[in-house]
Amino acid sequence: MNQQTDTAFFGQPRGLSTLFFTVMWERFSYYGMRAILLFYMYYAVTKGGLGIDQATAASIMSIYGSLVYISTIVGGWLADRVWGTRRTVFIGGFLIMLGHICLSLPFGVKALYGSIFFIVIGSGLLNPASSSMVGDLYQENDRRRDAGFSMFVFGINLGAVVAPWAVPWAANGFGFHLFGAEQNFHAGFALAAIGMFFGLVQYIWDGNKYLPETSLTPDDPLTPREKKTVSFWAAMIVIALAIVLGIMALLHGLNIDNIINLITVVAIAMPVVYFVMMLRSNKVTKLERKRVVAYIPLFIAAAIFWGIEESGSVVLALFAEQRTILHIGGWHFAAANFQTLNPLFIMLLTPVFVFLWDNWKKQPSSPGKFAWALIFAGFSYVWMAIPGMLFGTAGRVSPLWLVGSWFLVEIGEMLNSPIGLSVTTKLAPKAFKSQMMSLWYMADSVGQAVNAQIVKYYSSATEVPYFIVIGLVSIIFGIILMFFVKRIHALMSGID
Ligand code: PHE
Ligand code: ALA
Repeated sequence: MNQQTDTAFFGQPRGLSTLFFTVMWERFSYYGMRAILLFYMYYAVTKGGLGIDQATAASIMSIYGSLVYISTIVGGWLADRVWGTRRTVFIGGFLIMLGHICLSLPFGVKALYGSIFFIVIGSGLLNPASSSMVGDLYQENDRRRDAGFSMFVFGINLGAVVAPWAVPWAANGFGFHLFGAEQNFHAGFALAAIGMFFGLVQYIWDGNKYLPETSLTPDDPLTPREKKTVSFWAAMIVIALAIVLGIMALLHGLNIDNIINLITVVAIAMPVVYFVMMLRSNKVTKLERKRVVAYIPLFIAAAIFWGIEESGSVVLALFAEQRTILHIGGWHFAAANFQTLNPLFIMLLTPVFVFLWDNWKKQPSSPGKFAWALIFAGFSYVWMAIPGMLFGTAGRVSPLWLVGSWFLVEIGEMLNSPIGLSVTTKLAPKAFKSQMMSLWYMADSVGQAVNAQIVKYYSSATEVPYFIVIGLVSIIFGIILMFFVKRIHALMSGID
């Protein structure tokens, strides 16, 4: 059917429904898994966990999150140049499912690392390819495009909002105490795998009918000559990696801490390489170069923002488990359930902000919105220092503290995430469209790589200075950014 006239899914092309449910299930599996993974790692073996120490577990959560978004570089490239988006999403989803299956089996730490491997590669394949396929559902001039993307993001959050209830519930024996007094994390991970399975079945079934033929071939297939160059560089990277790991092993430094440090360095170096490459490329015009320069401070702001936002599944999760009263009256809940608040606030706040942007005449420019995002994120942290200052850090406090913190950071997300996505596409030099998209994912990746280094220092004993210092850093960056808004805006040359 002609896509311009296909309005079968709430006025949008039917293919959008396929992609909507695919990412809904994928985020269900990812965020459901993340909601219990931290606890699985550091809970004692007698409580069904792996007994990893808490600081290392927190650090692994962050570096894992970082890898999930670095891998989009490879995934986006494979979709554009080798497999086409359709196959890339399928392979990605399949690997993600395998990853969750690993964790659902009782093989301890080995299964954990295997699962991280599969899910990092799988997400790298699925994430950029699925969103670029959404874009491909519309012709250049189709005005439904923005609305289509908003619905797609709604699918992401719908999966993310349900999962932190469903997955911990499975881990607790579906309310029947199937596993005795202990919880069985593996049952939770199995539910994540089943969710991804539903997503895949739906993807194949509907995708064959509704996704465009063009998604079956790469947009810009490799020429045989390029294939050789690529194989050469891929081999070089593998060798370099082997050498680095070999040296670390020889020096008896091949341990989890050093591997995390290595990944942090790579995650931070990656965007630097990208920026240098774009600024030096002769495929980039003078005007485009200015826009790339304007993107640098926005990138840094986004990295700080995502650092705080993503710490919700690590630092705030620890606060939920150790410092929060886990019932309201007779209603009991699990620490993992708090992860629902992030996507829930996104769903509640999105219409408010859509209205605001449509009607607010003197609204800030994109850099101004980014500055405010940092200020809100900063306050979401400073806010978390208050209960410890008022009541000490030994006991438990009302769940409303966490609710308030998530509310503040999600206002920030409204000012960063959708704005950043659109500014990224608009500031992209023509020759670097997909690379610029990868950069956007890298902002999250850098934030989490830095988190991997700092979350180690979080504990109930350090929470007050931890929240204040990091919160203030974010607020101060936001204020500095305010002063540069005009200049950045000028560099953007005509883009809001
Ligand atoms: N919560 C977002 C998501 O799952 C995280 C994200 C941020 C992803 C920035 C990409 C870029 O999509
Ligand atoms: N905040 C997460 C994301 O943006 C759920 O999708």
